[in-house]
Amino acid sequence: MLLISGLKLNSLTFRISFLFAITAIILLAGTGTFLYKFLEQELMKRDHEELIGKVDLFRHQLTKINSIGQIVTAPGLFRDVIIGHPHLRLALLDEQGNTLMSSSDWKPPAELLANSISIDTEPSRATMLMPTLDQPYHAIAAWGALGDSRVNRVLIVLALNVDEAQSLLVRYKRTLLTTLFFSVIAATTLAFIIVRRGLRPLRIMAETASDISASHLQKRLGVADAPEELRELAGAFNAMLGRLYNSFARLSDFSSDIAHELRTPINNLMGQTQVILSRTRNAEEYRTVLESNLDEYERLARMIREMLFLAKADNAQEPLHAEPVDLKTELDKISEFYQMAADENDIKIITSGSGSITADRILLQRAVGNLVSNAVHHSPPNSEVHADIILNVTSVELRVSNQGPGISTEHIDRVFDRFYRINSKRQSDSGAGLGLALVKSIMQLHGGHVSVESEINKITTFTLHFPIADPAVVR
Ligand SMILES: Nc1ncnc2c1ncn2[C@@H]1O[C@H](COP(=O)(O)OP(=O)(O)OP(=O)(O)O)[C@@H](O)[C@H]1O
Ligand SMILES: [Mg+2]
Repeated sequence: MLLISGLKLNSLTFRISFLFAITAIILLAGTGTFLYKFLEQELMKRDHEELIGKVDLFRHQLTKINSIGQIVTAPGLFRDVIIGHPHLRLALLDEQGNTLMSSSDWKPPAELLANSISIDTEPSRATMLMPTLDQPYHAIAAWGALGDSRVNRVLIVLALNVDEAQSLLVRYKRTLLTTLFFSVIAATTLAFIIVRRGLRPLRIMAETASDISASHLQKRLGVADAPEELRELAGAFNAMLGRLYNSFARLSDFSSDIAHELRTPINNLMGQTQVILSRTRNAEEYRTVLESNLDEYERLARMIREMLFLAKADNAQEPLHAEPVDLKTELDKISEFYQMAADENDIKIITSGSGSITADRILLQRAVGNLVSNAVHHSPPNSEVHADIILNVTSVELRVSNQGPGISTEHIDRVFDRFYRINSKRQSDSGAGLGLALVKSIMQLHGGHVSVESEINKITTFTLHFPIADPAVVR
């Protein structure tokens, strides 16, 4: 990356300063050019007006005399007009081109004589000539009539040295360019300082952000003292950090949970095996222990299977075999399956509603099965578990509700977390706490979601929301 004394060319500071410098150059150059042109025009106008005034004066003087001879004999009448005007050259010529009078023996060049204006033409800026002489001159050649007659004519030739005006313009241009150069440097430097100061909060934010690492995720960017434009960005960044922090905390909880969950059954297995090996046993005793071990192995295998499913679902690696599924049929199959366990406590599973959706049948069975299993598990004896299908305009809902202890608000947000059980003690009849996490993942894979409502010691309802792409297709 290119650097100019520590300033990166693709930095915001450089870009803004550069744009500011370009703007300053355009504005200052534009103003300078305008002023230069204005001055040039004004100077020229002043010179031309002087020449026009003099021609008018000479024409007037000529009307006062009657013969050309008077010009030769009394040249003072005309010469006095240009006295005190060292930059002005004058020549009066007769019709044949003979010089009747001239200042400093000036001989006007032929190009001036060729472009003279007639008696009737008023001198104006349009009739000005710019002859090629030793120095820059603006000139005019105009015929004037003697006395009242229009017969005797005299050519008035006047030339004004504009060298001084031109050198003034040259000096002005030089000063203008020097001023422009230093103004642009000053403007760019100021812009650079202002932009650097203006962007300081951004640098502070970047420094804070670079200090944030996995072990310092609780650090936040200062929002209160950030300028208005950056406040939204800082807020969004902080919110992102908050989410990262939560995910990170859950991830590390998850790892320690896995360790805990695996430790207990493995310790049990080890303990039982050590005891059984401590002395010789008969075949029956070995059989009993091996059977008990098998239960534990099955629990472990199920847990590992579920964890694997969750990990794959997280990375969207779990394939979805979507097919049209008749919800009522599936619900009846599931309730029939769990009715056997429910019968032990005289719990009745009642299904209602109908509808079909496009879903992965196996995953759907798993999700609904987990909800019904939980409902049966938490229902008091002699109660009912309801599983209802409800059709909405844009979604199909599958509600599983049961009476029971309910879930308090402190737990309700966390029941879908992995390994989260309200009664945290690991009991032989309790699950691993992965059931609802699986339900949540399955619903996410289907583009839907799961929600829960619960009243303590009353009804707890878990609802699966399946979105419908084309509501007309479903019914
Ligand atoms: N219908 C319900 N009524 C009251 N509490 C419930 C209900 N369903 C779930 N819970 C609470 O939510 C916790 C998490 O449920 P989840 O299904 O994830 O785990 P689990 O049933 O304990 O174990 P697993 O499903 O893995 O065998 C449960 O431990 C239970 O305390
Ligand atoms: Mg469960």
